[in-house]
Amino acid sequence: MCGIIGYTGNKDVTGMLLDTLEMLEYRGYDSAGIALCDTDGKIRVVKCAGRVKGLRNLLEDSHIKGNSGMGHTRWATHGGVTDQNAHPHRYGHITLVHNGIIENYKELNDKYQLQDMLCSETDTEVVAGVINHFYNGDPIDAIRRSVMKLKGTFALVIMFDDFPDTIFAIRNVSPIVVSSSEKGNILASDVAAVCQFSKDYFVLPELHTIMMNRESVKLYDLSGEIVEPEILTADWELGQNGKGGFPFYMEKEIMEQPEVIQKTIEGRILDGLPCFTEEEVTDDVLRDCNRICVVACGTAMHAGLVGQVLAHSVLGIHMDVELASEFMYADPVIDDQTLVIAISQSGETIDTLEALKYAKRAGAITLSIINVRGASIARESDYVIYTYAGPEVAVASTKAYTTQLAVLYLLTARMAFVRGILCEDDVKTFILELQQTPWAIRQVIQKRDQIHKMARRVLDARDTFMIGRGLDYSILLEGSLKLKEISYIHSEAYASGELKHGTIALITDKTPVVAMVTQKRLKDKEMSNIREVCARGAKVMLFTRESFEIGGIDEWSEVFELPDLEDLFMVLPASVALQLFAYYVSADKGFDVDKPRNLAKVVTVE
Ligand code: G6P
Repeated sequence: MCGIIGYTGNKDVTGMLLDTLEMLEYRGYDSAGIALCDTDGKIRVVKCAGRVKGLRNLLEDSHIKGNSGMGHTRWATHGGVTDQNAHPHRYGHITLVHNGIIENYKELNDKYQLQDMLCSETDTEVVAGVINHFYNGDPIDAIRRSVMKLKGTFALVIMFDDFPDTIFAIRNVSPIVVSSSEKGNILASDVAAVCQFSKDYFVLPELHTIMMNRESVKLYDLSGEIVEPEILTADWELGQNGKGGFPFYMEKEIMEQPEVIQKTIEGRILDGLPCFTEEEVTDDVLRDCNRICVVACGTAMHAGLVGQVLAHSVLGIHMDVELASEFMYADPVIDDQTLVIAISQSGETIDTLEALKYAKRAGAITLSIINVRGASIARESDYVIYTYAGPEVAVASTKAYTTQLAVLYLLTARMAFVRGILCEDDVKTFILELQQTPWAIRQVIQKRDQIHKMARRVLDARDTFMIGRGLDYSILLEGSLKLKEISYIHSEAYASGELKHGTIALITDKTPVVAMVTQKRLKDKEMSNIREVCARGAKVMLFTRESFEIGGIDEWSEVFELPDLEDLFMVLPASVALQLFAYYVSADKGFDVDKPRNLAKVVTVE
């Protein structure tokens, strides 16, 4: 949560900070602010509640200019959404921005008697006060002594009045990546933001201090020794970040799915069989575990639920899927025979990271499925498989989800092969079907106008239900989350057989129902459940497959036919159809589809 940036270079920093903050806005957009070293060598702060756009307007009337500065876009934790609580915060000689949560800020406030000079309700301003307390002319020493006192997570970018054109930063858990090029030195919360100048970057190691100015970037460990950073290379093209002519990133990202799924699977198929040699995921790892447990949050957790169906029905192996935030409090049963798979687009979700660390301590083998190269979860894992979704900017996840699914299909197939559950020919057939999924998604995208028409039917709804069984139910959990998060319509995915045990009481002729019917063995039972809601006056929008004879088209408000694939693979076209459905509802209601209220894309607070 919160996007941070620091820059020193030849460019006038204001425009550069604003543009980068806009890029980082998906991490939070409650307020925005910048601090920079003005031409007279003084640090100036401009900040306000609301979006970066508001900050840009505010800065138009100011004449501040400089080559070093920092910026912040906020997702509020401590203190409401006000100008005062916006970052940067100043205390004495110190100006700083922060991503994370300082748990002991009250104790620190009392201990160092900071309250008289505090102007905000934030934990961040207290950190500025603590650093100011320890500052005696040596910034590195003050930072080192201060962070020893902090409890919680933090990525801090700090400016000192005495060194106004130098940017300092330190982190614990919350991410900071750094990139250096002839155009300047930049650090920020994510790779997409720093790679605007160069694809080479490094991840700031935890509790290491970075000191950068126009001429140099220096990295120090806590004892003050200089450390050489480990340079990584971003695997996505620079400039891949625009909306590509679409009104919203979400639409662009939905459209990219056939291509990125293909990219995610193709390099991992050798002679028709899945292989993870490049990732060094050995067959022993996949063969020897006797349990699998997925830890993830939000959409990534829903990808895990599909993986669970695959593990049970193809492999016959027990798989748990746990909400990462609940994992360690549920006393999970884990040992060295358990493979724990963390799924995360950002690789920074703190609940998932903490769950993974817990699993490691309990002796589990850990594997992560991550989109952002070099992210914290990837670095903590024994094995990493990257999805090739490219930068995902819209808060609502689409292409990250479907590429996570693609990896889960590949993993299932490899496990089935090395465990001798499927013969070589059957594994090849499974992979051939997976290779059909980009085609099937293209078919859905081509018919998107029909989905748009269906979406218009729920614009005025207060509540909707999404019903289905088995794999259809897993898909709907994700489809329902998509609708809720971007359209603000209350939506509940329900296992359709369970409706009659209570929830059907809520069905009236004012309740639109989305039904998903894609699984041969469940079709008849699902259709009966659908008729039960129709009998209570519900308007049903049915997503089914072309080859299914469903009869009585007039009964349904709308029907969308998905292209046919084998049952297990229907997830992919069906999920894309539901993404489009949610997208059109949100866009037609006039919402900012990419930045739904109260949300952030990267959740680095527990
Ligand atoms: C946030 C986002 C969701 C995402 C979840 C997990 O809540 O809004 O879209 O699914 O975090 O994120 P991750 O980066 O771990 O996949």
